[in-house]
Amino acid sequence: MLDIPEQFLTLNTPRLTLRKLAIADAEEIFAYARDPQLTTYTLWEPHRSIDDTYDYLNNNVFELYRSGQGMDWGIILKENGKLIGTCGLYAKPIHQRAELGYALSRDYWGQGLMTEAVKAAIAFGFHVMRSQRIQGCCAAENIGSARVLEKSGMQFEGVLRNYIVKKDQPWDVKMYAITALPNKEMT
Ligand SMILES: CC(C)(COP(=O)(O)OP(=O)(O)OC[C@H]1O[C@@H](n2cnc3c(N)ncnc32)[C@H](O)[C@@H]1OP(=O)(O)O)[C@@H](O)C(=O)NCCC(=O)NCCS
Repeated sequence: MLDIPEQFLTLNTPRLTLRKLAIADAEEIFAYARDPQLTTYTLWEPHRSIDDTYDYLNNNVFELYRSGQGMDWGIILKENGKLIGTCGLYAKPIHQRAELGYALSRDYWGQGLMTEAVKAAIAFGFHVMRSQRIQGCCAAENIGSARVLEKSGMQFEGVLRNYIVKKDQPWDVKMYAITALPNKEMT
C-alpha cells in the first residue's frame, strides 16, 4: 500500500523529528519500554530484557514496513537527539482508514510532545496515505491519551464497552476520530 520514497517518511515538527526505526534504536526503546507505569494502559507488557525490544522491532515494526500497511516512527527530540518514544499509523487499506498508536518515555510526559507528534502523523495520514478516517482509542481511564487525541483535533465518538481484554480484565475504550471531509449529517 505505502510505496512512498524514503525522504517523505521523515516528519519534522518544531521540537521533534519522526523517523523510521532501526535495530540500533533497541537500547533507547528498551530504556523506557521496560517501565511498568508506562504500560498500564497499553496492549503490550513491559519489555523484560532487550530481547523483547528486538522481538518488537523485528516482528511488529519491520513487519509493518515490509507490508506497507502503515508507518511506525521513532520520536527524536531535536534538542538532544534522543529517541524518546514511538508513534504509529496502522492502516486498514480496504476502508482507507488508519489507527494511531503511541508511547512516550515517562521522563518527557506533560510537555505537549505527543500531541505534536500525533498532529504530524495525522497530516501524513491524510496527505500521504490518503486516509479518509484516522482514529485513535484509549482505555477509558487513560486521561492523558484521551487529551492527546482531543488536542489533536479529534472528535469523541463514544465508549466501546468491554472492547479490550487484558489479563482477563475487560476494558471500556474511548473512540476518537477525525475525517478527511466534514462529517456527513446523520439522516
Ligand atoms: C499518553 C501519552 C502518550 C501522553 O503523552 P504526553 O506527551 O504527555 O501528552 P501531552 O503532553 O501532549 O498531553 C497530555 C495531556 O493530558 C493531561 N494529563 C495527563 N495525565 C493526566 C491526568 N492523570 N489527569 C488529567 N490530565 C492529565 C496533561 O495535562 C495534558 O493535557 P493539557 O495539555 O491540557 O494540560 C503518555 O503519557 C504515554 O506515553 N503514556 C503511556 C503509553 C500510553 O498510554 N499510550 C497510549 C495508549 S492508547
